[in-house]
Amino acid sequence: MAARFSRLKAQEKKRNVPENCREIISSLPKGQGWASEHVYLYQGFWFDPVILEGVIWAQQSFRAIDTDIFLASSPKCGTTWLKALMFAIANRKRYDSSSQSHPLLTTSPHDCIPTLEILLDHDDPIAYLESLPSSPRLISTHLSYTSLPNSILNADSGSRIVYITRNPKDALVSLWVFSKAIRSENWNHLPPLPIEEAFDLFCEGVSFAGPFWDHVLGYWKASLETPNKVLFLKYEDMKMDTQCWVKRLADFMGHSFSLEEERQGVVQEIIKLCSFQNLTSLEVNKRAGNKEFFRRGEVGDSKNHLTPEMIKRLEEITEQKLATSGLKF
Ligand code: A3P
Repeated sequence: MAARFSRLKAQEKKRNVPENCREIISSLPKGQGWASEHVYLYQGFWFDPVILEGVIWAQQSFRAIDTDIFLASSPKCGTTWLKALMFAIANRKRYDSSSQSHPLLTTSPHDCIPTLEILLDHDDPIAYLESLPSSPRLISTHLSYTSLPNSILNADSGSRIVYITRNPKDALVSLWVFSKAIRSENWNHLPPLPIEEAFDLFCEGVSFAGPFWDHVLGYWKASLETPNKVLFLKYEDMKMDTQCWVKRLADFMGHSFSLEEERQGVVQEIIKLCSFQNLTSLEVNKRAGNKEFFRRGEVGDSKNHLTPEMIKRLEEITEQKLATSGLKF
């Protein structure tokens, strides 16, 4: 079984789950799961129970440091791509992006940047965090803005957040395909979730870390209020003009490209290293547990899976939810 997905499954391994965790979870509203059987509504967002244990652990035990940079996202919005880019940008002095021994050539982007809510899988998550390079520590999360640990949200915290999102139609289709793969691998006693059912659940807000729109709006508002703390990115913009957005990303991370680096083509090298084409050609990303994070890597594939009626309904919901926000997809 793919190691990464076993994290979603009830663990045989003893985890340092906070004492009150199971009690909290059993008291929460329960909804239909996409991969596992049920999801639970916690602080306004839906999570698989094992992930939720990690969320509660993070809120109780994680301490951000000022140099931390977080990558936040709803699942399937480009996390893997951004993990690769952020790792390559932050570590380019240590690892030459054109080198044949770059870690991204042999390591999944998900193993280069850990995910906050699955840190509990480590025997000693705090010791593991302390072992990460601190210049900066890069950590990803699917938590909503308001549920982030206080040490990240505190006004005096110097930590920063990069948020990546995507148009909800493609996010829904990508999540549906991904959840089907996880379900068939780990919960094969459950029937595959038909797209019609996934669509209705998504529209009702019952999706991994959903409601999708509330998740996006939380970070969007934070990026308007505190632009130095939250950088808001869209997958479609990144695809359209990767170079421009990679440079913006590096500036935000405090790792701007020098003119000399630009002249030497370092930006293009990093883009190439982290491209869908390159990452999918690597053996490490063809392995079970990693390959599921790569599918088409395109904008607009949802039209091949959703009916025109579904597309219309999703566009209407999106327009209504984002109406006064100034955000458009
Ligand atoms: P599709 O399912 O539409 O192909 P996440 O990393 O948040 O789970 O998002 C996964 C989505 O990002 C998938 O979308 C996947 O194919 C796409 N993706 C993964 N790596 C990418 C890359 N290097 N460049 C562009 N898209 C990528």
